[in-house]
Amino acid sequence: MPDKERLGCDMRPIQLILLGAPGAGKGTQASVISEKYHIPTISTGALIREAIARQTPLGMSAKKYIDAGALVPDQVVIDMIQDRLSQPDCADGFILDGFPRTVPQAQALEEMGVSITDVISIEVPDEEIQKRMEGRRICSVCGATFHVEHNPSPAGDRCPCGGMLTVRSDDDPAVVASRLATYHSMTEPLKEYYAKKGLLKIVQGQKQIADTTAHTLAALASRGGR
Ligand code: AP5
Repeated sequence: MPDKERLGCDMRPIQLILLGAPGAGKGTQASVISEKYHIPTISTGALIREAIARQTPLGMSAKKYIDAGALVPDQVVIDMIQDRLSQPDCADGFILDGFPRTVPQAQALEEMGVSITDVISIEVPDEEIQKRMEGRRICSVCGATFHVEHNPSPAGDRCPCGGMLTVRSDDDPAVVASRLATYHSMTEPLKEYYAKKGLLKIVQGQKQIADTTAHTLAALASRGGR
């Protein structure tokens, strides 16, 4: 059921885009919002990594872009998102984590007839991102995200689900530098794109994850009074 506290006077289901540099904390916040509002998170990065792990044709062709810190071609991710949004669990809202990443992707979303209700950009300086990526660990089974210092797994070098914790191949510092450059040139213009539509809210990433969560949930709740 949608959260009454969040809905305020705006009864539309949450159709949220999380913007932010790689490592800004989009996935971390998406998981909290997803749990609070009972809506799925759709991460194009996770969908692509899953396709790579399954060695599908899409995964095989996407791998070289991910390894280089570049974007996968627009049409590939647009088709992926169109298919995912047509599934029944998206009917009561969803969170887009990592999509759109270019203006043509944002335009494609509109052409699909998707009416985004909220866009939150989580802002973190590049130097901080580099430090965060070095400590990120991902569960090889359920995909949960941890950080050796800021958000350690309660099960040590394993996830509470039992999966081994791994380092993402694109968290290598040289690849992170390319991903940041790609973000600034290709994705950051989306802030202006959504600001012009009156949808953009900026959240300053905080040192503690819980503090960023508090700011993010406040930004989302303020939508009801818009
Ligand atoms: P994707 O998987 O989307 O990666 P990303 O956007 O680069 O973002 P990340 O998942 O790295 O970071 P995040 O912001 O979710 O941060 P997290 O919460 O993990 O994409 C990967 C690749 O796929 C792309 O490079 C591209 O090639 C391709 N791709 C994906 N979508 C595409 C698209 N639409 N078009 C084309 N290509 C596409 O947090 C990071 C770490 O910091 C964690 O360890 C976390 O515990 C820690 N942390 C989080 N918040 C805090 C905090 N407040 N304080 C301290 N530590 C924190």
